[in-house]
Formats: sequence, C-alpha cells, structure tokens
Amino acid sequence: MKTDVLLGLQWGDEGKGKVVDAITRNYDIVTRFQGGPNAGHSLKFDNVSIVLHTVPSGIFHPETLNIIGNGVVIDPSVMREETESITALGVKIRDRLMISKKAHLIIPTHRIIDAASEASKGKTKIGSTLRGIGPAYMDKTGRNGLRVGDILEPDFEARYEALKKKHIAFLRQFDYEYSCDESDFFEGIEHLKQFEFIDSENALNSAMKSRKRILAEGAQGTLLDIDFGTYPYVTSSNTICAGVCTGLGIPPRAIGEVYGIFKAYCTRVGSGPFVTEQNNETGEKLRSEGREFGSTTGRPRRTGWLDLVALKYATMINGVTQLIMTKADVLDSFDTIKVAVEYETAGGRTDVFPYALNENIRPVYKEFKGWNTPVSHIRKYEELPAEFRAYVEFVEQETDIPVKIVSVGPSRSETIVR
Ligand code: GDP
Ligand code: IMO
Ligand code: MG
Repeated sequence: MKTDVLLGLQWGDEGKGKVVDAITRNYDIVTRFQGGPNAGHSLKFDNVSIVLHTVPSGIFHPETLNIIGNGVVIDPSVMREETESITALGVKIRDRLMISKKAHLIIPTHRIIDAASEASKGKTKIGSTLRGIGPAYMDKTGRNGLRVGDILEPDFEARYEALKKKHIAFLRQFDYEYSCDESDFFEGIEHLKQFEFIDSENALNSAMKSRKRILAEGAQGTLLDIDFGTYPYVTSSNTICAGVCTGLGIPPRAIGEVYGIFKAYCTRVGSGPFVTEQNNETGEKLRSEGREFGSTTGRPRRTGWLDLVALKYATMINGVTQLIMTKADVLDSFDTIKVAVEYETAGGRTDVFPYALNENIRPVYKEFKGWNTPVSHIRKYEELPAEFRAYVEFVEQETDIPVKIVSVGPSRSETIVR
C-alpha cells in the first residue's frame, strides 16, 4: 500500500486536524512528518474539544497507531502537557503513540533565541509562534541538534549542556534579557521515556509492505513552506508533499493520494503578504463567523477571500489528487462571495504566482452569489444549495482537481464525503 498525504494549501489552519480525525477510520497509521508545537490542530467529537500540537490527529481512534516522524521537532514540555490532556480523556496513549529516534528536540534556549531574534527584527518580524521552531531546525541543518534517540545515551546531559553553552554565546549578540527554566524540560524528557522510540522509516516501510494503510498529516501550509512559501515569512520546514519523503523516509513512488485542504476563504496568522486580505468589515465578519483566533497562540487571524492564483500554485507543488474544502459554513450569511482569479501586476494580469508578493499586486475578483442559508446540518452533497455547489464546482474547474470532501462544521460528524 502507498502512503496517502493530507496537507494544507494556504497559510495553515485549514482544518487539517478536524479532517484527519474524520477520515482516520480508513487508516491503520497516522503520522506527522514536519513542524512541531507551532501547529495547533483542533478536533471536536462527542463532547470532546481538544487542540493537538505534536501528537498526530489519529490519536482518538483505538485501532490506529500514531507515529511522530523524524522530520518533526519535539518540545518535551509541550509534549508532556499535551499527552497528559489526552490521557485525561481516558486514552491509553502509550499503546497508540511511537516516536522517531531521529526527531529533533527543542530545548529551552531554542525558545529564547526565537524570541530574541524576533525582538531584534522589529517591524520585519516573522510573527513566529515563539515555540523555538526556527532555532531547532537551524541546529538540525547546522549539525548541532539533539535527537530523541540521544535521550537514552549516557552522555545526554553533557550534550545538552554543550548545546546550551553554544546558545548562550549566540544570545550575546542580542540585547535581550532572559531567564532559562529547565525543570519543565527535564520533567518532559522523563515523561517522554514512557513512549517507544523507533526507527520510524523502517516501521513505516514495512507497514506499507504488509499492506497497512498510512496517512501522513501535514502541519502549517504550502504558503508557509521554507522553499515555496512567502519567504521569509514562512516556517522552517518543508510543509509540502516532498516533506513526507524526507520527514518519514518514504520513497517518492510510495506516495498515494495527496489530499490538499483549503478554507473556502483564506486566513493567515503572523506577518507577510496576503493579496486577498480584507482589512475591513468583511474581514471582521469572516473572523467572527469563523472564530478565527490562533489555536496555538490565540492571536486574531488575518482574513480575506479565497485566492485561486495561490491555490493553483499550491496544488502544482504538491501534486494534489483530491481537494478538501473546509469552513464553507462560515460564508452562510454572505450575500456575495469573492474569489481572486488573477493578479494585476506592474507587468499586466497574470494567474502565475509571482516570486514576491509586493503591495503593488492587486487581486482580480470573480463574484459569486451567496447561498444565504445554514449548511452545517447537511450530510449529502446533492442537498447543498445550488449556489454552494456552483462555488465548489468553479474551484474544481479552475484547478482541474475534484473536491472530494466538504467540511461544514468543526465536528467530526459535520463532514460531507462525495
Ligand atoms: P489546522 O491547524 O489545519 O488543524 O486548523 P485549526 O484547528 O488551527 O483551525 C481550524 C479551526 O476551524 C478550528 O477551530 C476548527 O475547529 C474549525 N473548523 C474546522 N473545520 C471547520 C468547518 O468546516 N467549519 C467551521 N465552522 N469550523 C471548522
Ligand atoms: P497549523 O499546523 C498557522 C506561522 C506563524 C508565523 C510563521 C512562522 O496549525 O496549521 P514559526 O513558529 O513556525 O516560526 O512561525 O508561521 N505558523 C502558522 N500559522 N498555522 C500553523 O500551524 C502555523 N505554524 C506556524 O504564525 O507567521
Ligand atoms: Mg492550526
């Protein structure tokens, strides 16, 4: 069996957690391949509402194994809090979760460097979640990092101290006051030891051989990808489909379906360009109807219309085979819905995503009549209002990719599979 992938096509928060949870029953294994506690994936089912940061969103299905792959960066103190809140819901998480020995660790000074670096940037700050993601990946590529497998080595503490010393020297360049509380980190390390540390590349490849069904769950979104996102306003990992190969050790030809998930409109948290942003009443309404506040940081999300120029670029980079549209119910009370189909640039109109999105680029919109009726209770595609279906079918026509799942609410059950 090949590995299917579900990943975000915008700037994150497309509803990955909700949809992964909703489709997990089709899979034996759910696995994260990149990112870390900068992610916030919200799940809602029965009477449970929870936000996951590092643990894959298949964790609430007893038959499914969850694996944190080598491409992920793990903060032991965040993991501890997260796994404790999952355990509190009666889940035997130790039996359902395994961690790659090759995943890198976020240590307390990574978070401090993140904060100091952002503070030094002033107006040009990235708007990072300040979870230490960038510095941890810098140590990984700089070949200084600590990995999960190192925890079991006798000299782990010495290695930790050596890395911390490097960080403290590095921090001298910043005029930044900090204190470093390590007790949480070491408690987190002890807590982490209850889980099985594995060579996840071997486990996943043999699972594929024995015809197990695997779903790789993306974090962030394509426009935050380190190579193809709106650089430098991006995260520090490859959020795209290629990240599955490096982040799990799965060969490219073993990738099966690629589910690309997008909101029926668009949001972004943090700094950086956003061509279809609505810094006005429309944007306010999208934010309040969509409850657009960050799952990890609580920050208000910037909001705007769907951008097909960017969406088509994202489907190209990822080789998306099926689309998933979420949060269309948020548009229930809009008379008119707009979609950017081209950009007006200094060199004329284009539907090609440009090298840089500067402020001179203007969206060219196509307008749709809203459906003006609630849709969250609907479970069959054919029962959705005609205006809703026209919107979906326009996206299909423009991208040449079928929209196979439509999400009409935050709960597991509010999902329409075509
Ligand atoms: P993720 O990071 O991609 O997993 O997305 P987040 O969980 O950060 O943000 C998505 C938000 O929208 C969460 O609050 C979800 O509960 C909510 N959500 C997901 N799908 C839908 C949907 O179809 N309709 C509505 N109204 N909310 C949704
Ligand atoms: P999920 O998985 C939305 C954004 C941050 C910031 C930039 C860099 O929930 O979709 P970082 O902490 O990675 O250095 O921040 O990326 N960002 C996200 N935005 N959803 C996320 O994850 C994000 N993870 C990072 O806001 O602009
Ligand atoms: Mg999120």
